[in-house]
Amino acid sequence: RWGKPLVVAIDGPSGSGKSSVSRETARRLHAAYLDTGAMYRAVTWYCLAAGVDLQDAAAIENACEEMVLAISTDPDREHVAVGGEDVTTAIREPEISKAVSAVATTLGARAELIRRQKQIIADSGRRIVAEGRDITTVVAPDAEVRILLTASEESRLRRRGLQLGGTQSAAALEEQVLTRDARDSTVVNFHEAADGVFTVDSSDLDFDETVDAVLSVIRRATH
Ligand code: DC
Repeated sequence: RWGKPLVVAIDGPSGSGKSSVSRETARRLHAAYLDTGAMYRAVTWYCLAAGVDLQDAAAIENACEEMVLAISTDPDREHVAVGGEDVTTAIREPEISKAVSAVATTLGARAELIRRQKQIIADSGRRIVAEGRDITTVVAPDAEVRILLTASEESRLRRRGLQLGGTQSAAALEEQVLTRDARDSTVVNFHEAADGVFTVDSSDLDFDETVDAVLSVIRRATH
């Protein structure tokens, strides 16, 4: 990798376009890419596979600590493995989306994942775009650039609906986007920008325009 250290931290709610925008931003910057949501999903997959009771915080925390998790940080190669098993597509199943808040709201599990995320960022040579819910505030508060990617409720529902192939009912979409965000935001605030965090509102922007808006914030911030 070339260039100066550049950590870009991006947070935002479901359906803000965070993952695809962050991945493309990483490509354009020749940087690594970390999808921290995939790590919460991988822990959830592991717990379900191992029969861990998702009401039992200590059991979730233990599972999280013992789990062997590998995640690709190449923006052109999406790959997540748990104990050597490829779970890249399995962690996107609705069953995981439904259960993942149990892990995300377990503070001991968060502490362990935050530790691993900080390590991945350090190992990248600090040239990385990392996205999630608490990257700008907890995982990389010292990042060169911190961005909150927001979007109106309406556009987040529409975007997630399109992502899922347009087959979901309005109620199912609301459960996946609004209810999950409401549960997750009891432990992390990803609806308001912390001090020094730039906001990019993607409500009226298409994908390319959102990537351009993010890149222009990065350019301005690193000048
Ligand atoms: O972005 P996503 O839908 O893949 O995230 C999966 C879950 O993980 C979501 O319920 C929120 C949670 N999450 C979190 O609490 N902190 C992060 N840094 C990333 C994701």
